[in-house]
Amino acid sequence: MTDKIALDAAKKLAAITAVDQWVTEETKVVGIGSGSTVVFAVERIAERVWKDGALADIICVPSSYQARLLILDHNLTLGDLDRHSKIDVYIDGADEVDNAMVLIKGGGGCLLQEKIVASCAKKMIVIADYTKKSLRLGEQWCRGIPIEVSPQAHVPVKLKIEELFGGHAELRVALMKAGPIVTDNGNFLIDWKFVAKREYNWDEVNRAITMIPGVMETGLFVDMAIKCYFGMADGTVKVQN
Ligand code: 5RP
Repeated sequence: MTDKIALDAAKKLAAITAVDQWVTEETKVVGIGSGSTVVFAVERIAERVWKDGALADIICVPSSYQARLLILDHNLTLGDLDRHSKIDVYIDGADEVDNAMVLIKGGGGCLLQEKIVASCAKKMIVIADYTKKSLRLGEQWCRGIPIEVSPQAHVPVKLKIEELFGGHAELRVALMKAGPIVTDNGNFLIDWKFVAKREYNWDEVNRAITMIPGVMETGLFVDMAIKCYFGMADGTVKVQN
């Protein structure tokens, strides 16, 4: 099996297991995260709705333009936070998950809306392949912690983060350096490569970065997820609390 096939199989297994466990007949509103793993979760929800005739009235609230399209493509009912600000369960992927369930998210650039939707959910469930599991952050994700910033502020924010916490922060640019990546919200992204060997208190780091003027949100999700389902290389699923 190629890596891609093995990873997709692991993502799918995690997604199906989590959806079957957490999206039940009692679930009225489900939050839909972003990324490649979430595609399998939406496929599973759609399969339950359209093949099994289950979850008839389920409403799906997206966390990105990609999630919105996924919901529409699968003929599921699209919700929004104006009408559905109380979400029963939010299912999303992650770029890295440490032992204390601190997440790095935003590899796909959707962290601001993801965090907003997650904050409206009673439960956040993470689905991921085995490469996302770490003892401590920095083991897996060499691209760093994504931070969404107002375009005007990307240089001062970068300098402030480096001054406060070390490492190196850089603007995320499109292929061939064609220009900065622009998020669904019209902002830029900074990827902060923190010092992997340093002990950080992620809650404090998250609060401090969020306080810098121009920062919209960080890709650090602290105390948000209650469970993570990892699809493993051997075809099993590991559940982390
Ligand atoms: C997007 C995200 C994704 O959830 C994260 O990047 C994981 O993606 P994938 O499921 O493709 O590995 O945070 O901003």
